[in-house]
Amino acid sequence: MTDLVTDPITTLATAFPPSFTFGVATAAYQIEGAVAEDGRTPSIWDVFSAEPGRVHDGDTGEVACDHYRRMPSDVALMRDLGMGAYRFSIAWPRVQPGGAGPVNAAGLAFYDRLVDTLLENGIAPWATLYHWDLPIELERAGGWPVRDTAYRFAEYAGIVADALGDRLRGLITLNEPWCSSFLGYGNGAHAPGRRDGAAALAASHHLLLGHGLAAESVRAAAPSVPFGITLNLYPTSPAVPASYDGPDRAAYDDAVRRIDGLSNRWFLDPVFGRGYPTDVVEDVRSTSALEFVLDGDTDIIAAPLDFLGINYYTRHVVAPAAYPGSSGVDFLSRGLPVTAMGWEVDPEGLYDVVRRVHDEYPAVPIFLTENGSAYVDVVEDDGTVHDAERLAYLRDHLDAAGRLIADGVDVRGYFAWSLMDNFEWAYGYEKRFGLVHVDYATQRRTPKASARWYANLLDAHRSGMGHGGGILGA
Ligand code: FCB
Repeated sequence: MTDLVTDPITTLATAFPPSFTFGVATAAYQIEGAVAEDGRTPSIWDVFSAEPGRVHDGDTGEVACDHYRRMPSDVALMRDLGMGAYRFSIAWPRVQPGGAGPVNAAGLAFYDRLVDTLLENGIAPWATLYHWDLPIELERAGGWPVRDTAYRFAEYAGIVADALGDRLRGLITLNEPWCSSFLGYGNGAHAPGRRDGAAALAASHHLLLGHGLAAESVRAAAPSVPFGITLNLYPTSPAVPASYDGPDRAAYDDAVRRIDGLSNRWFLDPVFGRGYPTDVVEDVRSTSALEFVLDGDTDIIAAPLDFLGINYYTRHVVAPAAYPGSSGVDFLSRGLPVTAMGWEVDPEGLYDVVRRVHDEYPAVPIFLTENGSAYVDVVEDDGTVHDAERLAYLRDHLDAAGRLIADGVDVRGYFAWSLMDNFEWAYGYEKRFGLVHVDYATQRRTPKASARWYANLLDAHRSGMGHGGGILGA
């Protein structure tokens, strides 16, 4: 333990320039609780998690980490850990209950206080506008598959930008629109739990359209706030070596093309002004003719970005499906160590996916807006957690980030997922991603070894270790 916690830190700290942003991330529904407080109305996640069988153990976000009430002490905890930045999300149903109409001043005031408290504690506030908690009224009106939702989102984005934009250091429209559309409307694993491929594709388009329209409303209200979107990207590799030349080689390559197409290029291409990739348009033709993509939409989606947020957890390794009748592609494991999510630990995947964006898309500053791991934590009698695996995951992925910078990729920040254990969507409270342990019975927070290690790294970075012996050194 001791070695892990102290030794490589000063070397690793040298990989990041003095201006590099280090922080932690959370999302509103996963931590806030207080679901009916100060005028908040239900989101799709309140309704979904209340439905039997949707979430592990019937867990809901009703209490979560009680962060809505404990915000000042949670910010103090981040300060004590030396965090430079905090990425949180704003609950649309707090700010604009029902998803339309007047602003709920009491709900907005919570985020106003959060931003001010962060700044008072020297922590840069980064806000995500939409981390999956669509107001239920908008779902009842059709949800993201309906075009009007994009316009409602742009209006809400303008409200937030107007209120907070002067103090935010980063404003992210959407978190992982792939999840919102394909898990929410395609396979039903996430709220609102619909299973309709055509609806999922329409949702993906209206999310991206909402992002593009929000660029206008945000820039009108807060011209100087750095504006971006966060995508979950997956490097996608064939389950055979590059040198493999068997008769099914082309089928492997096609499996990669399809999965990369729908997971990555479907979002990257339109955001970077290329419109939807034509091969994927062909792939999905039997599901949808994409009649909801109207003239001019792709220009709106291509609004200039100040940064791209990338969330990375693992790599996809694919093969042509062994059994006909499935979706055509199998996802395989390579036998690498996995996290409690069953996701293979693959720091090189972070290098590969960010490098690919750098090599193939227009230059834009990149922030790693999420990266982290769930493990089964063992809590000692004193509440501490010696999470050596999470610590190693964090260290090895930061090492990959450092190598990207050394290789000339414009990576400017890293936000660990997550500040603390929280409501992990369909997995409920069973999966713990926190650097800080949460005892849900008492709401006691205890930094794990990974949190201490990260704090030490940030301390070394701040004190200029490795920057020629001081931040102003050679
Ligand atoms: C991401 C989500 C985040 C969290 C992590 C583990 O897909 O953005 O809220 O659930 O996965």
